Amino acid sequence: MSRPIISGERMLARLQSLGQIGAVESGGCTRLAFSDEDGRARDLIKTWLEQAGASVTVDSIGNLYGVVQGLSSGAPIMTGSHIDTVARGGQLDGCYGVVAGIEMLQAIRDAALQPSVSLAVAVFSNEEGVRFSPDLLGSRVIAKDISLEEALATQSRDGKSVAGELKRIGYAGESSPWALLPSKFIELHIAQGPCLEASGTAIGIVEGVQGHSWWEVVVQGCANHAGTTPMPLRLDAGVAAMRMACALQASACLERLPAVATVGTFTLEPNAINVVPGLARFTVDFRDAEDGQLREADLLLRSEAKKLEDLGFMVQLSHLSRALGVRFDATLCDTLQATATSRGASTQRMVSGASHDAQMMATLCPTAMLFVPSIGGISHNPKEKTLDEDLVAGAQILTDAMWSLATTA
Ligand code: GLV
Ligand code: MN
Ligand code: MN
Repeated sequence: MSRPIISGERMLARLQSLGQIGAVESGGCTRLAFSDEDGRARDLIKTWLEQAGASVTVDSIGNLYGVVQGLSSGAPIMTGSHIDTVARGGQLDGCYGVVAGIEMLQAIRDAALQPSVSLAVAVFSNEEGVRFSPDLLGSRVIAKDISLEEALATQSRDGKSVAGELKRIGYAGESSPWALLPSKFIELHIAQGPCLEASGTAIGIVEGVQGHSWWEVVVQGCANHAGTTPMPLRLDAGVAAMRMACALQASACLERLPAVATVGTFTLEPNAINVVPGLARFTVDFRDAEDGQLREADLLLRSEAKKLEDLGFMVQLSHLSRALGVRFDATLCDTLQATATSRGASTQRMVSGASHDAQMMATLCPTAMLFVPSIGGISHNPKEKTLDEDLVAGAQILTDAMWSLATTA
């Protein structure tokens, strides 16, 4: 029986084109959620989906879907990912899974095939959570982890709402986020870490994703003159915040509580060379596969904040995001492994350190993920790269798996 064969060349060229929207030097990309660049990238994705014969819809949180109708009715089998990026991110994070999904639909069309059940490609809104927290926003709404109203009311640091920005870029859709619930979900993604490359493995079969807990911490002290304020009389918010950040990092390093902890943003006010900082604002990203460990890390953060309060600082803690660790569907993992093996690809079972929309979709239907190696394990960096042949192999394995599920379901 004939089956769809992708064009690696077309997929790689499309990844390049998408990467030009919001391009930064050294091949990277800044395309924050609901920005003008996100809007233009969505326009391009929509065109490609339509060329692949898909009908395109947008739901009220801005998730964009392309669906190719199956011979029978019923819930679609879905793949997809995201096209928003972090600031100065790479061209592959998220985009690879979306463009590979479109390539799958195009290959089906090129071969004049029709699946037995519908196939869908989803582009989820605001996966990264950089401009608007929480992250995974589009898939969180579908999974009812956050209400649609709360998601639309989410504000960016510069005072813009998700609802307003979606309208501004023309992607405040009309369909319900629950109109297209899939029967299965498979996300293809770059590994973003060193494991696959280090073991020389072609394909990661992702059995789960670790959870995360995100915080914003604001430490208030007293701004004062750098030359005249004696050291014992200072309430230096900058040093206090740095001590807290170091304590959290040391806990992860020395006690693995949690598995990893990151202070990714840190700003001081008034931010002047000759002023003792009066205010420090920073974010904390805790990750661990065990929810209990994340809760312990949250308690540690509170106790470090209390230590600063005892010294006379005011500390404000805002919880920005939480996602529980998940385990993916064992049968679907086995299917993906068998598909990869039948293409001669070596496989490795693994747990994802990065968060993914699949984490939310897993609460709705059998879900699994496929990873391809990241060169040097570099990601969230303009230098993020994967060998072309690995990208093409992963996309063909996704296509094989989706096609076989859609013809045997
Ligand atoms: C998304 O890439 C995340 O893991 O934060
Ligand atoms: Mn991603
Ligand atoms: Mn990312």
